[in-house]
Amino acid sequence: MSQTPVLDLRGIDKSFGPVRVLQQVDFTAYAGEVTALVGDNGAGKTTLVKCIGGIHPIDSGEYLFDGRPVRPGTPREAAALGIEVVHQDLALADNLDIVQNMFLGRERRRGLLLDEPAMEELARRTLAELSVRTIGSVRRKVSELSGGQRQTVAIARAVLWDSRVVVLDEPSAALGVAQTQQVLEIVRRLADQGLAVVLISHNMNDVFAVADRIAALYLGRTVAQVRAADVTHAQVVELITAGRSESLGITG
Ligand SMILES: Nc1ncnc2c1ncn2[C@@H]1O[C@H](COP(=O)(O)OP(=O)(O)OP(=O)(O)O)[C@@H](O)[C@H]1O
Ligand SMILES: [Mg+2]
Repeated sequence: MSQTPVLDLRGIDKSFGPVRVLQQVDFTAYAGEVTALVGDNGAGKTTLVKCIGGIHPIDSGEYLFDGRPVRPGTPREAAALGIEVVHQDLALADNLDIVQNMFLGRERRRGLLLDEPAMEELARRTLAELSVRTIGSVRRKVSELSGGQRQTVAIARAVLWDSRVVVLDEPSAALGVAQTQQVLEIVRRLADQGLAVVLISHNMNDVFAVADRIAALYLGRTVAQVRAADVTHAQVVELITAGRSESLGITG
């Protein structure tokens, strides 16, 4: 395919003090596809997505968005490009309701007042577009929601803004089987709607259920970027645990 990737990071380096966490990392993600980002604990996945999302500055390397060089320095700058990161801890405010959470820090106003009807309607419509039926009222407090429902609210918050890229850092880590299934369906649907979706997951079944591409990190380096259809579970596990795969001809 000669399609330009939405995200194209090349030779990214990132250190925290003396610790080199990312070394010469390459990462691409395409519109309409789910790209799984895999790697063992501490491989650098969260650090990479925080660089993508404008939370950590990159030390060096190229960051292209739609083929243009960018350098988002804050989450707001990343959001202006259409990049939204759903963090592992979700960062939802328990004491606020679903609408308030979805518009937190980006409230709609009419004059000096908050435009509650507009926000409520948009929240409801976004959840409906994600085919979320189990939540009930959008005025429920987030503290009353299950883990899967919270995850859904966090994802809905990310797709409210004409997003182009949505990154999900381990969305199913704390979820049961049925809720994981629901979240994976939403992930797939977002890609089918044309977003570039980046999914971090340790679960190979989840990865193979939804991913078009798989990018593997090993000790802060890119070891492979492959199409999911071209690799087996065992090969991906090998890449994650050993940073190489004999059968793929990747010698690390
Ligand atoms: N702010 C920081 N300061 C110093 N070191 C950090 C910081 N953030 C992450 N690291 C280190 O960078 C490395 C990569 O961490 P990161 O959180 O990116 O891994 P990960 O692949 O997301 O792992 P996990 O699967 O456990 O979430 C780890 O060794 C971690 O200790
Ligand atoms: Mg992580």
